[in-house]
Amino acid sequence: MTKTILATGGAGYIGSHVTLELLTSGYEVVVFDNLSNSSAKSIERVSRITNGAPHFIEGDVRDASALDHLFETFSIDAVIHLAGLKAVGESVAHPERYYDVNVAGSTTLFNAMFRHNVKHAVFSSSATVYGEPETMPLTESSPTGPLNPYGATKLMVEQILQDITGASPGWRSMILRYFNPVGAHVSGEIGEDPLGFPNNLFPFIAQVATGHRDLLQIFGDDYNTADGTAIRDYIHVMDLARGHVKAIDYLLANESKENSTPIVNLGTGVGSSVKEVLIAWEQACGFPIKSEITARRAGDVQISYADAQKAKELLGWETLYDLPRMCKDHWRWQKGNPEGYR
Ligand code: NAD
Ligand code: UD1
Repeated sequence: MTKTILATGGAGYIGSHVTLELLTSGYEVVVFDNLSNSSAKSIERVSRITNGAPHFIEGDVRDASALDHLFETFSIDAVIHLAGLKAVGESVAHPERYYDVNVAGSTTLFNAMFRHNVKHAVFSSSATVYGEPETMPLTESSPTGPLNPYGATKLMVEQILQDITGASPGWRSMILRYFNPVGAHVSGEIGEDPLGFPNNLFPFIAQVATGHRDLLQIFGDDYNTADGTAIRDYIHVMDLARGHVKAIDYLLANESKENSTPIVNLGTGVGSSVKEVLIAWEQACGFPIKSEITARRAGDVQISYADAQKAKELLGWETLYDLPRMCKDHWRWQKGNPEGYR
């Protein structure tokens, strides 16, 4: 029988790709999103690509009665909880919003799952929980120490989900720690559509490439790396999406196993510097992208990349796409949709 997955935040950047990948893998999907940082057009486009419309319900994860209504309407087998706020700077300025949406929103959702006997959750966490790393690559047992309220909310919800799952018969959950998701579906129909000023490297370069921004500021070239710029583990959003399908497959296939909440890194295991990313982008676009070196950005770590071994062993998941492909796919989306979904 077809299994039905609830994707909170399923209209967002990662959620829309996860929804698409779930549908093409034979799952039914219910998207629940308040559209605070996304557009319903992403869902329309996912429907068009897959010929299999996901159900869409507009609502807020902090709204217990909306969640009750959803769980009464659909028979949900598992939840992927992507909904949340994700801007680091905003979390420093307005931590109350982050604790409300990310933490209170998660507990409201988990309590609704309790009321409706839904016992499987996959949670979108982040490599940001590792803080300033001591050694590389980062394994799931590397020390945590988030540097800002956003990271703190992710670590709190990890703990909450682990505690709930451990204490509740029949519950089995998974925590996915994403590294740096970039790129877009090969169709160029869905992709990242930041509202306002883009904080992250890929969306910023993309807007320089379309002429919406003058130049890329490279935040520091005095790091202790080969070319002096900071290193990150960029992961194609479709590889990431496939990781979620594997996580759901795993939880639903192992129903009889003891309740547990594995933590799994989703990264490539390969680090790329800002300058390497810029070169790959120039090759993808076929023209130079203007840049200048500026001071380091406060709160940035020097190097971050994953040990992706656990995902391979537990889920049989490995990434397929390299940096040139990430840039090519991201550029196809941006070129075809220079104003995003607007
Ligand atoms: P996104 O903003 O595109 O998606 C989040 C979605 O959640 C949006 O569609 C938004 O409208 C929705 N949402 C926000 N508050 C809500 C609420 N109260 N109720 C219902 N829906 C709500 O961001 P994304 O990049 O797709 O991130 C998805 C998840 O992955 C987030 O939890 C984020 O913290 C996490 N994550 C993202 C990254 C990244 O670099 N993009 C890295 C690590 C972890
Ligand atoms: C940022 C967040 C992190 C979050 C991650 C999600 C901060 C401090 N950290 O991390 O919590 O989990 O996004 O993907 O915001 N860069 C430039 N110029 C730019 C933008 C970025 O040089 O205009 C550099 C950054 O200094 C960094 C690299 O590019 O070295 C990647 O930046 P970004 O995409 O923002 O990701 P993270 O820094 O990893």
